[in-house]
Amino acid sequence: MKSYLMGAVSSVAILVSGAAVAGPEAEVLHWWTSGGEAKSVAVLQEEFAARGGTWTDMPVAGGGGDAAMTALRARVLSGNAPTAVQLKGPAIQEWYEEGVLADISDVAEAQGWADVLPASIAGHMKCEGTWCAAPVNVHRVDWIWANAEVLKANGIEMPTTWDEFNAAAEKLQAAGIIPLAHGGQAWQDATVFEAVALGILGPDGFRKAFVDLDKATLTSDKMVAVFDQMRTMRGFVDSNFSGRDWNLATAMVMNGEAAFQIMGDWAKGEFLAAGKVPGEDFLCLSVPGDGFLYNVDSFAMFDVDGADKIAGQELLAELIVGQNFQKVFNLNKGSIPARTDVSLDDFDSCANLSADDMAASSANGSLLPSYAHGMALRGAQSGAITDVVTAHFNSDMSSADAVKMLADAVANSM
Ligand code: BGC
Repeated sequence: MKSYLMGAVSSVAILVSGAAVAGPEAEVLHWWTSGGEAKSVAVLQEEFAARGGTWTDMPVAGGGGDAAMTALRARVLSGNAPTAVQLKGPAIQEWYEEGVLADISDVAEAQGWADVLPASIAGHMKCEGTWCAAPVNVHRVDWIWANAEVLKANGIEMPTTWDEFNAAAEKLQAAGIIPLAHGGQAWQDATVFEAVALGILGPDGFRKAFVDLDKATLTSDKMVAVFDQMRTMRGFVDSNFSGRDWNLATAMVMNGEAAFQIMGDWAKGEFLAAGKVPGEDFLCLSVPGDGFLYNVDSFAMFDVDGADKIAGQELLAELIVGQNFQKVFNLNKGSIPARTDVSLDDFDSCANLSADDMAASSANGSLLPSYAHGMALRGAQSGAITDVVTAHFNSDMSSADAVKMLADAVANSM
């Protein structure tokens, strides 16, 4: 009896160690390469390794993920998709329609995702009723970041209207400070544009313009005013803004070269990684106007062969939505957890403001998907809008011409 049992135990041990040798594997494509981002993704790498996983990193630098998406297309077209990919918004469903995504419903159901994720987020993770992506966080896009010292020294409060913003910027400019830290890359232009648009169009106008693509709103006088404000903003950036990465723009605010940056709260991840303290070294406030623009990072698993890779996908999906990861990752990343049952006690005032505003916006219908970060529209439509925004920002195009071009570009993209 005893020897029979021992035999059984040792064959289990052999099986376990055999499985450990094959182990879960994942090649992970993402664009988290800045200081704060790298620190954040390291949390997932560590948790994956602690559970016996082997992680092959495939970082593709480039804020906003445009370069990563180009790399993804090349890999899928050559029949060699990565196992896990940072992917979000309608792009998830676009890839699903190509028939290349894995179904992770087993993990989602075993882990009870439906009970811990808000319906608005869960909706983005579903493809024809199955779970096809795992959410990491909620980033808010419509933020203004500021250097606290610079504002104080110049007697400036955080602006609560665009007029106040413009007046503050003029005062700072006169004092020799760059009012707005900006990187002239299309996605950054789009990020500023949608923040301005939310303020000027209001939440309903934003939804009509960038979710419904309503022609009357796209060509409205208010849209002309949005481009007017963009032209004003163009006057507040320094002459070296072209091509600058977003995290270098954040660094300009950190070191007091510039006063403000309009950017999603991944910028807070940079401030934190540099040891800066919210409320002391830097300030956060949502841009003038109501509403909340959300940007949910998520990972989709691609169809791959091999038990080790499939085990890697299942483990990753489980870890990503896991409570510990959602807390530690988001403390570093600047975002808030996608799960509703993670305590925010250890999170800073900006994160708590984000969570409170998100709840309020969700209740009053002003919780809106970010168009600039691929949450609102399919690629063809969002790309068409961004082309116009960038063309306007980088030329002397009139606001009236920009609005006309916007309506044409959207119509042609359908
Ligand atoms: C992503 C963030 C990322 C930022 C800058 C956004 O689109 O959602 O996770 O930090 O781009 O690369």
